This record gives sequence, C-alpha cells and structure tokens, in this order.
Amino acid sequence: MKKITVISPANIAFIKYWGRDNHKLFLPKNSNISMNMSGCLTKTTIEINEKLIKDIVEIKFLSKDYAILEENSIKAKNIFDQINRIRKISKLNFKVHIKSENNFPSDAGIAASASGMSALTGVLLIAFGLKELFEDKKEFSRQVRLCGSGSAVRSVYSGFVEMVYDKENNDAYAVQIADEKYWNLVDIVAVLNPEKKKISSSEGHEIADTSPYMLTRISEMKNRIKMTREAIIERNLTKLGPLIEADCISMHTVMMTSTPPAFYWNAGTMDIIQNILKWRDEENLEVYFTIDAGPNVHIICLNKDINIIEKRIRNNKYVKWTIVNKPCKGTMLSNSHLF
Ligand code: DP6
Repeated sequence: MKKITVISPANIAFIKYWGRDNHKLFLPKNSNISMNMSGCLTKTTIEINEKLIKDIVEIKFLSKDYAILEENSIKAKNIFDQINRIRKISKLNFKVHIKSENNFPSDAGIAASASGMSALTGVLLIAFGLKELFEDKKEFSRQVRLCGSGSAVRSVYSGFVEMVYDKENNDAYAVQIADEKYWNLVDIVAVLNPEKKKISSSEGHEIADTSPYMLTRISEMKNRIKMTREAIIERNLTKLGPLIEADCISMHTVMMTSTPPAFYWNAGTMDIIQNILKWRDEENLEVYFTIDAGPNVHIICLNKDINIIEKRIRNNKYVKWTIVNKPCKGTMLSNSHLF
C-alpha cells in the first residue's frame, strides 16, 4: 500500500483576505500577502488502499487524540469536496485513508486551515497521479484555492507570498515575493485563547459585504499591496509595519461592522496592542502587531529583537504561551509517514 506525506506551514497575512468576489470560485475581494510560519506546521499522510469502501479522514488537534472527521461543518464538507473533486479530475476511483496533525492550536486565528488544506491538496494530487499539478506551484495554488481556504493558497511557496487576484480572468493564484532566507523577520504569536472561534472565516467571508466599510477597504488596497510588496523587497520594517497594522485594523473594522458583527478581540488582545504602541513610542523598539480571525496577536519584529520582545510578551498576564515563527519553506514532501 502506497503512502505519501506532505508538510505544510501556516502563514500570517500582512495584507488580509476577507470577503470574496465569487463564492463558488473562492475569488477574494483583493490580492493578499503573507509570510510562512516555521513554528506552525501540519503534517498529512495519505494511504491508497484499494480495499477501502469509503474515504476516512482522521485529524489530531494539538494535545487531543485522533478523531474521525464527520461531515458536519463547512470545513469538513470542504475537505470531502476536495477529495471528490481531485478524484474526479484523476478519473481514478479508489478511496483514501488520510491522517493529519497540527503542532499548534487550530481555529484560533493561527490559520490552521492554511497549513491543513494545502497539505491535504498536496497529498491528494500526488496520490491520484497528478504530480505535475503539485509540482507546478501556480497550478497547485489554484487547486488549493478550490478547497475553500484562501489563506492556504499562500502556503504553497516558501517565504513571502502574494495571492494575486486576477479579476479580468476570474483567477487567483500564489506567486512568491521572496524566499525564506531573504529577510529574517519574525512573527511571535501571543496565544491568548486557543479555543475554536465562534464565527469561522468561511462564515465571515459570506457576511463581509454587509459592512458599509468594505468599499473603503477595497479602495485602499491597490496602493497598500504595492507598498507592502516593495517593503518586503527592500527589507524595510519601518515601511512594512504601519501597512500591516493599518490592514489589520481595516479588516477588523469590516468584521465589527458586518451583520451580524464579529468581534474577535478580547481584553488581552487590546492589552498587547497598547504595550506594543508604548514600546515603539517610548523605547524605539521596532515592533508591530497583526491579528487574524481570533484574539491571538502576531507580533512582527526583527530576529535581533526576539529575546527582549518574547520575554515581555510571556510576562503579560493574558498570554498562555508564545510561538516563535521565522519565514520557512512552503508545502513539501516528507519521507516520514504518520502511520
Ligand atoms: C483572517 O478562508 O483562508 O486569516 O480557511 O479559516 O484559514 P481559513 O480562512 P480563509 O480566510 C483567511 C482569513 C484571515 C486573513 C488571511 O489569512 O488572509
């Protein structure tokens, strides 16, 4: 029986994907940019077994046991749809056994589905004999997009990645801005609450257009994307930091002004933001924040400042633990299988 294993990182969006122009094709409202996270990985193994009568997907979340996935949530449905879609492209009809595990908390604003869905799509393409689609990264990223997780599109490349939205051609795919060795930027995640979020990103994308602020957000995008790309190429954190923060605040404004409103921040989130602003103003520390669809804060700084900043974040009374991430490789094959 043949087994294939893939490892894929989560990523932190500097310019966020929130809301879609096309829900069927999973086309985003705007191009978006991220950095891969070395400390937040998913490992997925697939087994091709001609004797299986149905697909089995088992997922192990951090510090829990493996559990068989039932088709009772949007995310689970997206996983089974992706298996069926890729099986159909391949014209093969065998069933698969998949096991997948994360080394970080899921559904709490650390883009678990980015690593999970990119790893899943990778093992499926190879198992179903479509290795050429896996190796052509642009095409691979399109295949990832169709599983419904936009952030996962960006995990296929190493380092710093843009998901390009080509509106004219109804297309969206990933391109690499710079590889993982290009810039020693760091993302320290302050884990405040590792619990599952109440409004999932999938639900959030559906209601994003109800926010009156969405049009303003889109009008800001062209320039913000261009400047962010430049800041990465120039390795210029003084330029990048304010762009990251402005985009985070803009996305959360859309979230909070949607119907129904989605509030992801908690008291700890606000406390860390205020600390960061203070350290920057009073001590000239080059440190910035961004937050995805959860309360946890991603603290962006340079490698040389990790120790001082991580120590301070750990001492914050709201912080449960921290995860230090550097830019890393995108989705890749591994020889060590999970079963
Ligand atoms: C706030 O549809 O990719 O993280 O599948 O849950 O990861 P998940 O969500 P997805 O939306 C991402 C929302 C975001 C911003 C971002 O990563 O761009």
